[in-house]
Amino acid sequence: MLDVKSIRKDFPFIVNNPEVVYLDNGATSLKPQSVIDAVNAYYSEYTANIHRGDYDTSLKSSKAYDDTRILVKNFINAKTASEIIFTSGDTYSLNQIVFGYIKTHLKDDEYILSSKLEHASSILPVYKCTDNFVFVDVNPDGTLNLAEFEKQFKLNPKIKYVVITYVSNVLGYINPIKELCALAHQYDVKVVVDAAQAVPHIKVDVQDLDVDFLTFSGHKMLSASGVGVLYGKHELLEEMTPLVYGGGSNARFDDQGNIILKNVPERFESGTPNIEGVLSLGAAITYLNNIGMDKIHEYDKNLVSYAMSKFKELDNIIIYNPKSTSSLITINVKGIFAQDVASYLNYHHICVRTGNHCAKILHNIIGEDQTIRISIYFYNTKEEIDKIYNVLKDITIEKCIGVVI
Ligand code: ALA
Repeated sequence: MLDVKSIRKDFPFIVNNPEVVYLDNGATSLKPQSVIDAVNAYYSEYTANIHRGDYDTSLKSSKAYDDTRILVKNFINAKTASEIIFTSGDTYSLNQIVFGYIKTHLKDDEYILSSKLEHASSILPVYKCTDNFVFVDVNPDGTLNLAEFEKQFKLNPKIKYVVITYVSNVLGYINPIKELCALAHQYDVKVVVDAAQAVPHIKVDVQDLDVDFLTFSGHKMLSASGVGVLYGKHELLEEMTPLVYGGGSNARFDDQGNIILKNVPERFESGTPNIEGVLSLGAAITYLNNIGMDKIHEYDKNLVSYAMSKFKELDNIIIYNPKSTSSLITINVKGIFAQDVASYLNYHHICVRTGNHCAKILHNIIGEDQTIRISIYFYNTKEEIDKIYNVLKDITIEKCIGVVI
């Protein structure tokens, strides 16, 4: 069991806003004091650029940055730290893979397989990379069916890549990525996984999954914004072309236009990186490790299950993902526009996300474009679920309009 009462004291946002119920963790998480301290310490004690200075504070910041790469490597069990590239976030990581690897390898008659569950950040790069994309059929409830992947691989041997979400940012189902990778590799297909909603909530082991590429953002897992990770198998990163060139990523260049890039991963980190962001990610991982990802998943799962059981009591609520086991509960209130509900919840200091959640083709599966997403994390409580339940129980269109006007 987690000591959530004491965990909540670690989060200044919670301490400073006791009336607020923050249930928008799928968009971004709150930050513990240790993460804020890591950023403050860099700014107030050892500000310096990394890998460029031969003085103490630069050596210290360089070491802290390099140590964080090792922390991330251990956190997702990559084989080597060189398989970890720091980026500005999940979106950049996915673009780097699609344009720096897939586009440079994909032959004219080859295809990418994806799903209609995808967030804009995974599917839009695919659209801009090639017209040769196909969608796998998803079960009516939004879960994936491996047999459908096998059907596609057999039907079209020219499928060479799968770009897929680990956990849909609307439905919250944990997709069978390990089984998918095993299947895909039998057909010589590489798998790129958008793990933005997975890494903050479940233990991810890239070697066990045998995934080819995997991406995530720090800000959904307690770190500062503007930092993300691109994991790739080392041999694939060796064949990937950087999207961006500049300082820090080259070993030499001459006046003839020749460039010798540094090794992987430095060749992908041109320009001064988001040093404080990376350091905050290190502090975030340390915080998560101290609790334990298995415990976090168990807690999230139980809280989601509690919320589902409460919402199922309400006749006015439609639940779109009743089998969700990670962190998301997606609903609507019958007869009331999602954003009006959100405004009414905001009136009660409850923060949720509404709309299509950047997954603009998912309505093909769930039959609804606008939904209310309640996304929890390990610092949320049953009492907070009870608060939103009590507001939704008595909600009416008149109450919502009263607040909106
Ligand atoms: N991608 C984030 C979300 O799903 C912002 O809310």
